[in-house]
Amino acid sequence: MQKLNIGLFGFGIVGEGIYKVLEEKPQLNANIKKIVIKDAQKKRNAPSELFFTDPNSILEDPEINVVVELISDADVAYHIIKKAFQNGKHVVSANKKVIAEHHVELLELQEKNKVSFLYEASVCGSVPIIRNLEEYFDNDLLNYVSGIVNGTTNYILTKMAQENSSYQEALKSAQVNGFAEADPTADVEGFDAAHKLSIVTLHAFGTTIDSLQVIRKGITALQEKDFVYAKEKGFAIKLIANTKIIKETNELQATVLPTFVRLDQTIALVNNEYNGVLIGSSLSDEQFLYGKGAGRYPTSSALLSDISALQYDYKYEVRKKLDQPLIYNQNGYRKIYIGSKFSLEFITNKLEHIEERFDGAGYHYIIGKISFDELKKEDFIHHPQLSIIVFE
Ligand SMILES: NC(=O)c1ccc[n+]([C@@H]2O[C@H](COP(=O)([O-])OP(=O)(O)OC[C@H]3O[C@@H](n4cnc5c(N)ncnc54)[C@H](OP(=O)(O)O)[C@@H]3O)[C@@H](O)[C@H]2O)c1
Repeated sequence: MQKLNIGLFGFGIVGEGIYKVLEEKPQLNANIKKIVIKDAQKKRNAPSELFFTDPNSILEDPEINVVVELISDADVAYHIIKKAFQNGKHVVSANKKVIAEHHVELLELQEKNKVSFLYEASVCGSVPIIRNLEEYFDNDLLNYVSGIVNGTTNYILTKMAQENSSYQEALKSAQVNGFAEADPTADVEGFDAAHKLSIVTLHAFGTTIDSLQVIRKGITALQEKDFVYAKEKGFAIKLIANTKIIKETNELQATVLPTFVRLDQTIALVNNEYNGVLIGSSLSDEQFLYGKGAGRYPTSSALLSDISALQYDYKYEVRKKLDQPLIYNQNGYRKIYIGSKFSLEFITNKLEHIEERFDGAGYHYIIGKISFDELKKEDFIHHPQLSIIVFE
């Protein structure tokens, strides 16, 4: 077992968490030698001689063999990870944005520099989804991976459903309780979920999808009336991230969309800040992973697992590699609900088939079938006055 000398980048919610966890695990043979942060003036709950502001104090220290990257600035993090590889250091990171945007390049760099790059904490906090896809399902033909991968939006949707709150009220509650950041855009607009979906897609199917190609809609346009409809019909509304292979057309369909989930489905039971992921396999049918998707200690649990895996030289092998080219998000259709305070006359031509329509005072909805080509048009999917919810 090799001794791990760690250089830690970031001492925020997660950085301080893994520092404390490692302090309590001397048997792990992993020691944090230096910590790089941004603001030298902040008071820290650790000895001051550990802290530095110059990244090179870690990156050029030959005694440090592991970089744990936990900073909030994605551009800086990208350069830190690259330089760490070039200097022969293993990297553990939780930064889904950087990983999703540079996934293949970073995996190639780890290969070239003969080091490991592990990032279980970047997807669903404490839920061991990547390791399961890599190790347990590596020979199983998977059909889909689908679920709730963002705790902030799930907390907000739970509040809206259980307390009849408006989106703004539920967001405020999430912020007060530490489940949403001051700027919640990445979470509530679905970007964070799209990054995680892109990472999962590579490990599930051996192919990548750019997060910008994911058909994405967040939860900001949802209204109280949508939840009344859901309750009446026996649904929960969840932000579901779904990646699946359509074998007949060799197509990858990857979506992050508000979704009506039947109340008797497992995923409808995932509430508050919890995450839940379904893995659809041709052999085992369906399996379900559930746990805390974020927060100091749940995220540290995944980091701890990665750090201890480095002691036996573990690395992702991404054994599934699709050689045939795939097409992305082209041939799909979804049953869709479109709700609004305003008349929906102007969008009826988008639907191929209208199943149900309601026009009341200050509330209108249409249910019908829509093609992916129409669904993904920017002016439609990101229309601020349209609640767009698909059916499972
Ligand atoms: N919070 C979660 O539950 C969670 C879950 C999964 C993944 N993640 C990921 O984990 C990472 C860290 O998240 P967090 O919630 O711990 O963030 P945070 O509480 O905002 O802490 C960010 C840390 O990064 C440091 N930092 C920012 N820019 C820097 C720079 N240019 N150079 C050096 N240090 C810099 C900050 O330094 P100062 O202390 O000096 O300001 C701070 O210590 C992010 O990639 C996030 O997406 C977080």
